[in-house]
Amino acid sequence: MIIKHINTQPFMDQRPGTSGLRKKVSVFQQSHYLENFIQSIIDIIGGGKGKTWIIGGDGRYFNDEAIKIILRIVCANKFKKVWIGQNGLLSTPAVSHLIRHYYADGGVILSASHNPGGIKGDFGIKYNTSNGSPAPENIVEKIYQRTQEITTYRISDDFSLDLSFLNKHTYEETEIEIVDSVYEYALLMEKIFDFQAIQDLFIIKKFNFVFDAMHAATGPYALDIFEKRIGASSGTVKNFIPQKDFGGIHPDPNPIYARHLVDLMMQDQHPDFAAASDGDGDRNMVIAPSQIIIPSDSIAILAAHAHLIPAYQNGLKGVARSMPTSQALDQVAHFLNIPCYETPTGWKYFGNLLDAGLITLCGEESAGSGSNHIREKDGLWAILFWLNLIAIKREPVNKIVSDHWHKFGRHFYARYDYENLDKNIADKMMNGFAENMHKFINKTIHSRTIIKIDNFSYQDPIDGFIVYHQGFRLILDQGGRIVMRLSGTGTEGATLRIYLEQYIKNYRDYSIQSAYILHELDYISKEILKLTEYTGLRQPTIIT
Ligand code: G1P
Ligand code: ZN
Repeated sequence: MIIKHINTQPFMDQRPGTSGLRKKVSVFQQSHYLENFIQSIIDIIGGGKGKTWIIGGDGRYFNDEAIKIILRIVCANKFKKVWIGQNGLLSTPAVSHLIRHYYADGGVILSASHNPGGIKGDFGIKYNTSNGSPAPENIVEKIYQRTQEITTYRISDDFSLDLSFLNKHTYEETEIEIVDSVYEYALLMEKIFDFQAIQDLFIIKKFNFVFDAMHAATGPYALDIFEKRIGASSGTVKNFIPQKDFGGIHPDPNPIYARHLVDLMMQDQHPDFAAASDGDGDRNMVIAPSQIIIPSDSIAILAAHAHLIPAYQNGLKGVARSMPTSQALDQVAHFLNIPCYETPTGWKYFGNLLDAGLITLCGEESAGSGSNHIREKDGLWAILFWLNLIAIKREPVNKIVSDHWHKFGRHFYARYDYENLDKNIADKMMNGFAENMHKFINKTIHSRTIIKIDNFSYQDPIDGFIVYHQGFRLILDQGGRIVMRLSGTGTEGATLRIYLEQYIKNYRDYSIQSAYILHELDYISKEILKLTEYTGLRQPTIIT
């Protein structure tokens, strides 16, 4: 095998965002682009000699080509071993698990998560460390710095490898093992949950469940777990063949892109429960009859019932949520007398808390929830958790949700996204607000008083690393909260996210709609940002 040292030049745009480096496919297809980024990761971990990695992706367009390039770089850098998912496919949670299972030094996930795929879509690279977690911010920063000074990368000559067969190959010093994408992950789920109870729910109680894999990575996992292992009827899992363009849809399980599933649950003849997950399998959506369970409520309800699940029967050490996520989880933590940590947006901030044993469960408003079983959010885990809970409680899903609100109060919540903004205008608007924000403290706007405003910063309690400017947090009277930040995962222009939250403790009126409860907060956010003035927009592009 010939190893080449290729001269290269830095690309200025390789700063990873909330979740890895995400760009248009065409950007990743530029010569040296992917190579530079992968070599930069290898350089900052002290070179590849003797190292071991897990490699896999969500099967989107460019997955196959990218894996080949990464393998050539890995061999040229003298890695000891890499494990690759069959056909190059691994969900994000499965990569996290395999890193931990094989005690690997880390892993590379090829995915742009829920962003659209296909030749005109997005591609991405996420680097996870030896604990299975997305690289923490201090390592991400080092990788970025390295991309800005890189001058050469190492790559072997091309070799052909059939990724469809489970097999081992050795190239120079590197062993490449192609592993079953599903097997170890499914075993892990079996250890956490009571599959027998879920089977009884499906077969004896004739509970009707539908899962939509959205043509993405979880298809093979869901088929194996729900239909083969648990025994759900054939046809339970929909759209289970991963496609390069996800069937032309956004593989994002939310009321917009999984509209068909929501519509199904709103019909008179509906299943008892429905769920979906995203491109790389780390997000989840759960839907009860006529009711979408919002992610912020979902993680709170799971935390409140965790002691009913085999793996968590001894209780929770603590919980954590990202800052914009509603405070429903805080109520549960208070009741359980355990700590609730508030972290910046992005799963990477949970890793240290999980490793240190400070938390057992964590979640984000963006359809992500997970636990200490791995170091990523995990879509199928959350859905199995719900099924296990329903199987044990033997109550309709809607009742579990309304009982929770009765006990803890309800956090009305919505995220308003303003997409495709001009980046300069969005930055100007946010900077303008930052300069003036102190003027709004103690101001009453639309009959609500703003009590406190800050730009969220966070110091990691374990490694001490501090991050600033993680979003504006406004606390209002009467239990209101508004959070405003720019997205860190987009690949075009800017997206403003405004998160509105209203807590009502003695919640009894089930007919009230969130939009009605939140409309004052919506007005206030638009007014203080001068949103229409800057962007011309009056309404968000998407509400989730
Ligand atoms: C979004 C979500 C965030 C999530 C991330 C990766 O990031 O808001 O919670 O961790 O995707 O799935 P954002 O675009 O807001 O930076
Ligand atoms: Zn994802």
